Formats: sequence, structure tokens, C-alpha cells
Amino acid sequence: MKLPYAEPYKIKMVESIKRSTQDQRKKWIKEAHYNLFNLSSDKVFIDLLTDSGTGAMSDQQWAAMMSGDESYAGSQSFLKLKEVVNKITGFTYFLPTHQGRAAENVLFSAMVKEGDLVPGNSHFDTTKGHIEFRKASAIDCTIDEAFDTAILHPFKGNVNLEKLEKVFIENSKDKIPFVILTITCNSSGGQPVSMKNIKAVSKLCKSYDIPLFFDSARYAENAYFIKTREEGYQNKSIKEIVKECFSYGDGMTISAKKDGLVNMGGFIALNDEEIYKKATVFNIMFEGFLTYGGMNGRDMAALAVGLDEATEFDYLESRIEQVGYLGKKLVEFGVPVLQPFGGHAIFIDANKFVPTIPRDEYRAQALAIELYIIGGIRGVEIGTVLADRDPFTRKNRYPELELVRLAIPRRTYSQNHINYVAVALKNIFDTRNEAKSGYVIVDEAPIMRHFTVKFEKI
Ligand SMILES: Cc1ncc(COP(=O)(O)O)c(C=O)c1O
Repeated sequence: MKLPYAEPYKIKMVESIKRSTQDQRKKWIKEAHYNLFNLSSDKVFIDLLTDSGTGAMSDQQWAAMMSGDESYAGSQSFLKLKEVVNKITGFTYFLPTHQGRAAENVLFSAMVKEGDLVPGNSHFDTTKGHIEFRKASAIDCTIDEAFDTAILHPFKGNVNLEKLEKVFIENSKDKIPFVILTITCNSSGGQPVSMKNIKAVSKLCKSYDIPLFFDSARYAENAYFIKTREEGYQNKSIKEIVKECFSYGDGMTISAKKDGLVNMGGFIALNDEEIYKKATVFNIMFEGFLTYGGMNGRDMAALAVGLDEATEFDYLESRIEQVGYLGKKLVEFGVPVLQPFGGHAIFIDANKFVPTIPRDEYRAQALAIELYIIGGIRGVEIGTVLADRDPFTRKNRYPELELVRLAIPRRTYSQNHINYVAVALKNIFDTRNEAKSGYVIVDEAPIMRHFTVKFEKI
């Protein structure tokens, strides 16, 4: 008999999580104004809100933390991290920041001005937020297949080259500071970008003399998909694939809370000395001195180890296969999910799950709330709430997809937890036709409203 798959790690420390009843959860979610971000974590049984900063560090990372150098200037932990970043990404210059959006803030302060256009594949919300905050526009050039949850395209994060070239042709070069490629593409469902596409985007950018940057939060997961799905990469190591991928770009921002395997941190890495110099000014202003940039020495030490661990095949296989296991269970139960499964999360297609709830009553949010009430499971809406209002017309933007994202923290939950989540969703799915109405927004922020928005039940 073939041996079943088993994780390449064992557990050294456990953390208790609290069970609760449906009645308790109904009361708590009402008190939280039906915003899952407002729930305190002790009221959540399985927390799939995000895979960002919620994973478990390894014993080697914890050991590295003890040797963190907390010197304000010239920290040894900074120098070690710089060396690892250079080894893994190939980029010369490096600036630590406290997390991914801080890296965006610093880099965009140096490069984006009012009226600019920043094309890319579906920009993440903080990326878009930082572009729009500067009165510039993010142009989505993702392939159309990404917006059909049933199409089994292996690289749904890919850029449509014609859409991208159209932006280059119709606008002057000085209005396009760079193209940003998000790997994997969170907003289109944790979908990867193929090496072929990365190469082609890079070539197109070069021919128009426009820099290419990567939003690299899940760069290692993207490399795993290239290795397992793209011809010619099966025999390459993850580290080789990562290096090749970054070789096609001019720089990167990263939220290290994902494929850095740490709970906090981020950085910018790039090759252009001029942009680096400009960015250093903003790094000092917003983040801190250049050799810590918002991170503790111990966190930089843990990140140096995390980057190395995250680019190992065995780790990535256990990580991505666990996410896929949840996807397969849900498909077995008939629950409509985005396919192929994303690297860090499973996305439930709320348009197909609860078409009975009107779109302007936030059907994906309604489904996320129901999942919390039924199972104590916290997911997150990736739909109209997240898409925010148009900055000019202030009307709701209706994205093509209304999704509930179940993001799986790295090395954190067991297969039993995953089975529990799948059954909770099956139970909701079996009674889906009873859902007729959703929620109305009663309070919201002018930008990135999803974090603090308040709803009332209709
Ligand atoms: C693709 C992508 N870019 C940027 C960010 C922002 O990173 P952070 O949350 O560390 O600020 C995230 C966070 O989820 C992300 O997924």
C-alpha cells in the first residue's frame, strides 16, 4: 500500500483555541457590527481571516531570535538579512520596513505622483490604496480567464499582454512609473503567474523602458506552482526558480508575513541606485533608520531563516497540499470554489453559492458571517465591500467575483481542523436557498473601508 502523505514537521508547542455556541456567536457578531475584523480572537474557533503573520515559526527561527542584534545602526541581523535577500532574490539594494504596505508606502512615495497609472495583475487592496491615495490609478491587466471561477487555467494570475501594451501605447511613458506584478495574485484568488508570462511582461516593459516591480508576498508559493505546473521547471529547485523570476524585474516589495514565515516584517529590494537613494529618505521618515526600518533585530534574524525555509520544496508541498485538501473536500461536497485552488487560500464563489442575496446586500459578506455563526470560523469577504467605492464617483465598485476567502495560516492547523471547516460549509450549502437578504452598510471609512465598516442585518 502506498504510504499516505504526512507533514515534514512535528509539533513542539501548542496554543489553546476556544469553542463557543451558535447563540454566543450570533450575539458576538451583532456586537461586532457584522464585521469579522471586529471580533476578538477568543471568540473565533478556527481563524482563517488571513495567512498574513499568523503562521508558526520553526524552532530554528525562534533560536535565531535569541541572537537578534538590536543595535540602532549597523545591526548584524540587518547585515545577515541583507545577505540572504541578495542570495535569494538577486537584488542589490535592500530596505527593511515594518510590513508590506509600508514597503509600498516608501517605494511609491519615491516613484508615484498624481495622475500616474500603475498597470499590473489585480492589485492587492493596500497596493491599490497606496496608488489611489497619491491620486494615481491602478490598471488591472489580468487575463480574462481569472474572472471565471470554473475555468481550469493553471496560471490565472497572468497578465494579458495586449491589455498591458494598450496602456503603454495610450499613455506617455512618464505617466507610468512602473508595472507591478503580484505573485501569487491574491486579489484574483491566490493564483500564480507563469515564468513564461513573467518573461513576456518583462520584455514588454523593457521595450517601452518601464520598470517592472514584483509584489512578492507569496513569491515562494508562486515558484512551487511554476515547478509543478510549468513545462521545463520540474527539475529546477525552488531557489533556482525564485532567482530566475526576480531576474526579470527591477525590484520588489514584500510583506514578509507570508512567504517570509514571520509574524511581522517586510522589505524593498531593487537594483536601481537612484530609486534606492530616493526611497531611503522616505524609509527614514516613515519606518526608521536604514538598518532596521521598523523591524526589531530579532525579527530580522527570524526572517533571514524564514526566507530560506520558505524556499524549500518539502515545506511548500505540505503548505500548498493542505490548502488543496480543503479545496478537494469542498468540491466533493458540491460547494462552488475558485479553481484551480489558490496557494494560500480557498475562495468560495458567493455568486454561485448565494445568488438569492442581492449583490448590493453584500452576499459574500453575508456568507462569511454565516460561516462564523455556524462553525466559529472566521474567513473574509473579497468582493464588493473590499472593492471599495470609486474614488471619483463614490459609487460601489462591483468586482466580477464575490468571494469568501479562507486563508490557511502556515504550519498552524491540523487536517482535523480542515475537515471541520469543510463540513461547516457543507451544512450551510445544504440550506443555501433559505438565504434571501444580506446587510446594509451604516458606517464606512473613505478608503480601505473593509477593516472598519459597520453593517446592519436587513
Ligand atoms: C499581495 C499582497 N501585497 C501586499 C500586502 C500587504 O502586506 P501587509 O499586510 O504586510 O502590509 C498583502 C497582505 O495581505 C498582500 O497579500
